[in-house]
Amino acid sequence: MRVTVSRKAHFNAAHRLYRQDWSFEKNDAVFGKCNNPHFHGHNYELIASVTGEIDPETGYVIDVKILKDIIKSEVEDAFDHKNLNLEVPEFKELNPTAENIVVVIYNKIKAKLDPKLDLEVTLYETPRNFVKYSG
Ligand code: NI
Repeated sequence: MRVTVSRKAHFNAAHRLYRQDWSFEKNDAVFGKCNNPHFHGHNYELIASVTGEIDPETGYVIDVKILKDIIKSEVEDAFDHKNLNLEVPEFKELNPTAENIVVVIYNKIKAKLDPKLDLEVTLYETPRNFVKYSG
């Protein structure tokens, strides 16, 4: 029996959407307010969902404590109260859109999971705007 185990988490972070190789006018036209040179913040919410077979011995797909610790080290400690553009190496050259952030988070969590487990990450940038990635 394959079951999905999910854990919610959140982090606050600042970002700016822009490309260095574009003029301010072009960045403004494409990214609007998100191109504010003084940055702006979001209360990001995420759901990490791990799917796999129930271990007949433990009754677990994954010990949720392990999932919690992975999210803490890979996402919360790395992103919370950070400026994503300036302080998080993954976004030095990569625009920190919700789409790119969810892929980065997926890759970081997936690398720490047992390879036989499937992962899906949902990232809310606002209560109404969210993105999903499952590899
Ligand atoms: Ni934004």
